[in-house]
Amino acid sequence: MSSILVEPARGIEGVGQRVEALLSRMSLEEKIGQLSLANAGDSYIHDYLADALRAGRVGGVLNEVNAGVVNELQRIAVEESRLGIPLLIGRDVIHGFRIVMPIPLGQAATWDPDLVMRAARVAAQEAAAAGVNWTFAPMIDVCRDPRWGRIAESLGEDPFLASVLGVAMLRGFQGPDLGRPGAIAACAKHFAGYGAVESGRDYAAANVPENELRNVYLRPFRAAVEAGVASVMTSFSEVDGVPATANERLVRGILKDEWGFDGFVVSDWDSVRQLHTHGLTANDRESAREAARAGVDMEMHGDAYIAHLPALVRDGELDEGLIDAAVRRILRVKFGLGLFEHPFTDPAALPSVAGEASLATARRAALRGIVLLRNEHRVLPLSLENLRSLAVIGPLADAPDDQLGTWVFDGDAGLSVTPLQAIRDLSAGRLELRYLRAMETSRSRDTGAFEEAAGLAAQSDATILFLGEEAILSGEAHCRADISLPGAQAELVARVRHAGKPLIVVILAGRPLTLANIVDQADAILYAWHPGTMGGPAIADLLFGIESPSGKLPVSFPRMVGQIPIYYSHKNTGKPPSPDSVVHIDDIDPKARQLSLGMTSFHLDAGYTPLFAFGHGLSYASFEYSDLRLSSSEITPGQSFIVSCDLRNTGEVRAEEVVQLYVRDLVGNVTRPVRELKGFRRVALDPGQQAVVDFRLHTDDLAFYGRDMRLMVEPGEFQVWIGGSSETGLCSAFRVVPPG
Ligand code: BGC
Repeated sequence: MSSILVEPARGIEGVGQRVEALLSRMSLEEKIGQLSLANAGDSYIHDYLADALRAGRVGGVLNEVNAGVVNELQRIAVEESRLGIPLLIGRDVIHGFRIVMPIPLGQAATWDPDLVMRAARVAAQEAAAAGVNWTFAPMIDVCRDPRWGRIAESLGEDPFLASVLGVAMLRGFQGPDLGRPGAIAACAKHFAGYGAVESGRDYAAANVPENELRNVYLRPFRAAVEAGVASVMTSFSEVDGVPATANERLVRGILKDEWGFDGFVVSDWDSVRQLHTHGLTANDRESAREAARAGVDMEMHGDAYIAHLPALVRDGELDEGLIDAAVRRILRVKFGLGLFEHPFTDPAALPSVAGEASLATARRAALRGIVLLRNEHRVLPLSLENLRSLAVIGPLADAPDDQLGTWVFDGDAGLSVTPLQAIRDLSAGRLELRYLRAMETSRSRDTGAFEEAAGLAAQSDATILFLGEEAILSGEAHCRADISLPGAQAELVARVRHAGKPLIVVILAGRPLTLANIVDQADAILYAWHPGTMGGPAIADLLFGIESPSGKLPVSFPRMVGQIPIYYSHKNTGKPPSPDSVVHIDDIDPKARQLSLGMTSFHLDAGYTPLFAFGHGLSYASFEYSDLRLSSSEITPGQSFIVSCDLRNTGEVRAEEVVQLYVRDLVGNVTRPVRELKGFRRVALDPGQQAVVDFRLHTDDLAFYGRDMRLMVEPGEFQVWIGGSSETGLCSAFRVVPPG
């Protein structure tokens, strides 16, 4: 992971003495108050809250974003409580605040850490103006199950990509110094294994063996810790019978002791008291004890800590040292944020909300994250010169709320520019535009308007269908067992296809959908995720070739839901499939009792490949990869070498390509994935232009956790690829050899 190690954020250093001085003056109740995060979402709570603040019984408040109210809460805490400790003000600033950036999965499709960082920076500044100083993001749960609604919030299936982009996002929130105006504390969540909940059903158990946990699910968290993330949130789910919020081995053991995390750990919403619901504890008192012992420093919404920790300490069941350690961690972050010097927000000191530059960042993020999945006969880009009429049809062409996606508490749909609006603006009377919503929502089953839709398509030179999922169909607790296009959308595709005109499908969705039933009917498919406030202009720019698509999939697209989990970095198995070994269900001889071919690892009805692979994404240009070179084909542990190739734009337009580096460790102490992403880079090339793309690979980048759960680099053979997706690439080999 050496390539993603970055300097710790300096803002939370150098405050030890102030923390100790304050801690020495605190009563046990005041200490425990710091461990309590109260919900202010409902206004009726404010009187109660004011009294609790005066009594020093609250350390942070979540869900208050009125700057005036936040400043009043801070004033009470600072001026009317005995010790005057300012508050953490937490909010789910997941992908934007007033301006909404693409959903995190859409941002991941940009493969652009700098852009992801800038998008988070915009969100941080807007949130800081409202008084928020702590966001519950980034969510860096590796997710390989698109049924899970929270895949929308994730950075995809790959630990390396999620590490690099998660670090970029948290740096965007926290800035170079947490103490500067506009910086807010980040929270890496959900620790750990939440992305692996059974059958993609939210809050279910995640059964991940420790080796897999360390090699896959924990890696982004380790990267976030090394990058100086201020806080970490535990997961609602359990791993191996122990809910994360009581999981001492994970939280205290790995996160704090082994990795040396020095920020603080917050529970998820009421997840301390839920330890009882899980069946791990008999009551709230036991829950408080188990969570505190596990290393959870702060309880989010719930009163198990405030109600029971004092007695647990006094009765000798909990060491006060544990409480002190938790308070230290929280105070360090408060000092790091500069809250003792500047507890109040001053919106005037920050860039204006929804300013031009911020909207441009939102547009660029949407543009770079949209993936061109298919483009038969180069039907895209459309040309304003050649088209006279265009049909724009579908429930998501003009849906300002839905294009924002999930988790947009503070998003302003009034700022949304929809695809329909953007196409109108861009074509500005130069073509006849015919719009029909055709379905009330993405889930509608009413086909009453389909005849009219087919008619519009027949009369027009081309049709763009805006399909997918409304925002409500993804996000927390919004999981689906069938992830095909909902409602009658597939039928709408078939009816419009029948018109026989060029058909472009643009999909807005919070997850990969299974598209096998429509893929062949569409000449082109643009996958836009939920692209946020500026999704419309980004889509229009791509449709009309103002820009070339450059997004790449951060997650594999299954053909059928039964293939899940399907991900590129799977294990080889003892019987790997190949095109020659696959038998299709329709080809089985009715008299056969046993297959002579086909005793390999695949599904009779789906094969073994995804519909679209991780890393896939087309362009209006074409790119030629050539001459893969290694600066050395033998390296010893501790060394690095350069892998490079030439990349040429053989197309006719300027375009960007995300070049990807993959490695395979052929023999391991534990089996290794068939490919693992180890580097990527965005390269912009003019037509005919060629560039050298190089990556430095260090042997640390090849390290993995072996059977004894220690990080190791093993001598042996490796394969390496550079290419435009996880399925393609130039291939070479190298060896790691023992020193001497
Ligand atoms: C979610 C967290 C979120 C918290 C606060 C929980 O339900 O799991 O991710 O930060 O609510 O809104």
